[in-house]
Amino acid sequence: MAEVRTIGVVGLGAMGAGIAQVSIEAGYDVVGREVSTGLCDAAAGRIGHFLTRKVEKGQLGAQARDAAVGRLTTTTALDDLAACDLVIEAIVEELGAKLELFAELERICRADAVLATNTSALSVTEIAAATSSAERVIGMHFFNPAPLMPLVEIVRAELSSDDAFETGCIVAERMGKTPVRCHDTPGFVVNRVLIPLLNDCIRVLDEARVTPEDLDTAMTRGAGWPMGPCTLVDLVGIDVHVHASEALYEKLREPRMAPPPRIVAMRNAGLLGRKSGRGFYTYE
Ligand code: 3HC
Repeated sequence: MAEVRTIGVVGLGAMGAGIAQVSIEAGYDVVGREVSTGLCDAAAGRIGHFLTRKVEKGQLGAQARDAAVGRLTTTTALDDLAACDLVIEAIVEELGAKLELFAELERICRADAVLATNTSALSVTEIAAATSSAERVIGMHFFNPAPLMPLVEIVRAELSSDDAFETGCIVAERMGKTPVRCHDTPGFVVNRVLIPLLNDCIRVLDEARVTPEDLDTAMTRGAGWPMGPCTLVDLVGIDVHVHASEALYEKLREPRMAPPPRIVAMRNAGLLGRKSGRGFYTYE
């Protein structure tokens, strides 16, 4: 595999923009791809905002911020990722869309480029099967918010090569993250544990007739969580959480994995958490 200098990030939503941010901060050139210039500009604005907050708080020099921002280009054309050494996919969690994208990436990218997916709950092996070079496909699973959460799960799919796998670890370390190596099993490490736990929390809301505020207080004050479960699910996205629960339930058939009806109803009503302005809480 080539040494990684340029990273492509496909999908510049909350996760993709966060991944692009940590990549430019680590000195990588980044080509970020979104489907419209409006979404490209929104992501660049979000990244600029968070980097400027770091400058204001004395965590980053103004020159370093400007240099980092200068390393980011955005595009709506997937072909512009042709020169990337590593591409990290962070698009919608739909297998069909990811299969189509990876087939396209294989056509566009150099043969020695590593192709990574940030999927939360889909199978990296299934995604890799969209290509005829599955050995270069790995999972690089970041946590939300990507600029703040130190962990990256580096996921070895059935046919991933040692080279591609180690490239993922090296890049994560250079980003200042802590990589954990794991195999491609449903939910990998953290979500395998966290998803059923969050679903239990949501069930407790009704069982114990406790408010979201009090449940959050209980888990932050009583269990030392940095953030209460309702705040966390709002941050991750109600739709993202429901989708990940359904995907894990489909594979593992464990009742605790299944999304509780309450949260499915919220998703169906368009209460998606922070990003829609309303979930368990209301946001400005
Ligand atoms: N992107 C970039 N920077 C951000 C950011 C974001 N999304 N959100 C906040 N920041 C920056 C801001 O500049 C903020 O400072 P400001 O408010 O002064 O501008 C700064 O980070 C610090 O923010 P906070 O004061 O909110 O930081 P905290 O010390 O409260 O910590 C936290 C925040 C790290 C998110 C902490 O609450 C935490 O660890 N929460 C748990 C999160 C968690 O569990 N995530 C995993 C979710 S599961 C997942 O992602 C898996 C997936 O597959 C679904």
